[in-house]
Amino acid sequence: MMRHARVMGTGSYLPENIVTNDDLAKRIDTTDDWIFSRSGIRQRHIAARDEFTCDLAEQAARRALAAASRSPKDVDLVIVATTTPDQVFPSTACLLQDRLGIRGGPAFDVQAVCAGFIYALDITYRYIQTGASKCALVVGAETFSRILNWEDRSTCVLFGDGAGAMVLEASDQPGIISSHLHADGAYKELLCVPTGVSTAYDQILNREAFTTMQGKEVFRWAVSALGDAVVEALEANNLTEADIDWLVPHQANIRIIQAIARRVDMSMDKVVVTIERHGNTSAASVPLAFDEAVRDGRIQPGQKIIFEAFGGGFAWGSMLVQL
Ligand code: UT7
Repeated sequence: MMRHARVMGTGSYLPENIVTNDDLAKRIDTTDDWIFSRSGIRQRHIAARDEFTCDLAEQAARRALAAASRSPKDVDLVIVATTTPDQVFPSTACLLQDRLGIRGGPAFDVQAVCAGFIYALDITYRYIQTGASKCALVVGAETFSRILNWEDRSTCVLFGDGAGAMVLEASDQPGIISSHLHADGAYKELLCVPTGVSTAYDQILNREAFTTMQGKEVFRWAVSALGDAVVEALEANNLTEADIDWLVPHQANIRIIQAIARRVDMSMDKVVVTIERHGNTSAASVPLAFDEAVRDGRIQPGQKIIFEAFGGGFAWGSMLVQL
């Protein structure tokens, strides 16, 4: 029997509080028109002060388990992709495991920033293929608002908070078909939080641990690397865009998404877009968009979907999945 990693259920969660572009324009020198025309974003959800990444992850995970008709005791692997863990340690995956009452199997976080969810999914794919896991819970969850400088208009308008989750199981039915991940640390400075626990303890205490980005360079790189990654997913499987039902891209900028759709000659009707309402939720962006399109009936069982994501590192990649 072929061991596939099959998607059994999805879930997502967004914090209640919505911040519109107009809200931001009252606080910093920006406009709804600039933000929307440059990025495609109109609003983002922002976690309440007492709401943390694990809280968002828990809601998304419970919904994914319910959609999969599985209970926490079925889960033997928990992976959380996040750049904004609740604590330095334990991992958010261990906190989530405890919240859900899952015990004993491995639980760990994956840090690949905006590409984190597809990195986590890649690991799950290999755990399931080798027989190391039968039922995995994979979550992308972020409170990215905590690592933004809310006075820097070039970054703070772009991001939001949220979580998305999937339950995957070993199956003889297809699921993840291929995965192509990449990274190049030579570009570490173009998109980063330049401080961390080991390097700059004082700066963290002074709350200087914020995201910085060279937007134009990152934009150019994202368009070219993501276009290549989607082509790689198609060529590796001898497929053309006509064989793909949906592209579920990382939601960083509508202009990046449109450029990739153009590169592979895919109609925007086949692209799931949430950026207008969510902004860039980093590791949560792909599973959030996927869950929305599964729940509203756009994505149907049996369909083929390409995921792609790009972020700090740089780290990026693509996956081909059949629902
Ligand atoms: O998920 C990780 C991957 N991240 C990305 O993929 C993001 C990639 N980069 C981008 O999406 C785009 O580069 C941005 C949306 C960040 C910026 O768009 P842009 O078309 O590259 O604009 P720009 O950075 O060249 O800025 C143009 C102008 C500048 O003014 P000057 O120097 O031309 O006078 C900025 O100061 O817009 C100004 N500006 C703003 N104006 C109003 C920058 N931010 C804002 C703002 N409101 N929020």
